[in-house]
Amino acid sequence: MNHLIDILTFTVEEINQLINTSLDIIENPEKYSEKCKGKKIATLFFEPSTRTRLSFEAAMLELGGSVLGFSEASSSSASKGETVSDTAQVVGCYADIIAMRHPKEGAPYAASLHSPVPIINAGDGGHNHPTQTLADLLTIKREKGRLDNLTIGFCGDLKFGRTVHSLLQAMCRYENIKFVFISPDELKIPDYLRQDVLDKKGIPYVETANLEDVLPQLDILYMTRVQQERFFNEADYIRLKDSYILTAEKMTLAKPDMAVLHPLPRVNEIAVEVDQDPRACYFKQVMNGKIIRMALIMKLLEVE
Ligand code: NCD
Repeated sequence: MNHLIDILTFTVEEINQLINTSLDIIENPEKYSEKCKGKKIATLFFEPSTRTRLSFEAAMLELGGSVLGFSEASSSSASKGETVSDTAQVVGCYADIIAMRHPKEGAPYAASLHSPVPIINAGDGGHNHPTQTLADLLTIKREKGRLDNLTIGFCGDLKFGRTVHSLLQAMCRYENIKFVFISPDELKIPDYLRQDVLDKKGIPYVETANLEDVLPQLDILYMTRVQQERFFNEADYIRLKDSYILTAEKMTLAKPDMAVLHPLPRVNEIAVEVDQDPRACYFKQVMNGKIIRMALIMKLLEVE
């Protein structure tokens, strides 16, 4: 059974194929309008979402398929104590593929062990978010024309930001990538990524608390929201939430072709005035997310 649990499930070659399919979908959308006719996707969202859930649903609808699911744990049998594994086995009788978001790290993996249909991890706690990474990779490819030879700045909540963890792991597989991690001390990237991924592979990176100092070096700036729901203590969240705010003035320090990405939702970390800057790519990223999810659904369902 094909599942997508973390981004390293796919080889670089498979990711290239998904990007190429996405570029073809953009050129020839009509070719794909019936590819998943008669197929159903179930979106099982135990945690809030706008983009991810709706983009999976829109992707399946654009492929001619249909959708079912729930968007709150309280409206599912999880509230009665059902395990995710049982839920997946049940929903696998109704749908051909499942996208699952869950507050617990590893829940989609647990669901995949006995699932009769492909499981897609649509975000598990503060761990991984591989389909956001696919959206990010397609955006970087379209904006920069390449996935190698890049200096990528990640800014904000690098501790709990699961989109950061997945994109970092994905980018480590391309040539000549440098990372700049911009965060307050309390929100630095987890040790397992620093030691087991970056240090082990000898990938160059710097860690800093100052965005302005490093902005001129960056090819990509990946802004993130401080992940309020993962904090144990409201006072810490309030203290840290506005650590970084990207403004039009700060954008004057950046390269003329730097791309600004953000997985969204944005809270305060990018001033609305930056939306007018041609380097702001976060709404394009949303569109790319829907398209590459179309390619992903076809791949996992082995649609020709
Ligand atoms: C992200 C997530 O859920 O991790 N959102 C998304 O899926 N685009 C980022 C976030 O919530 O901050």
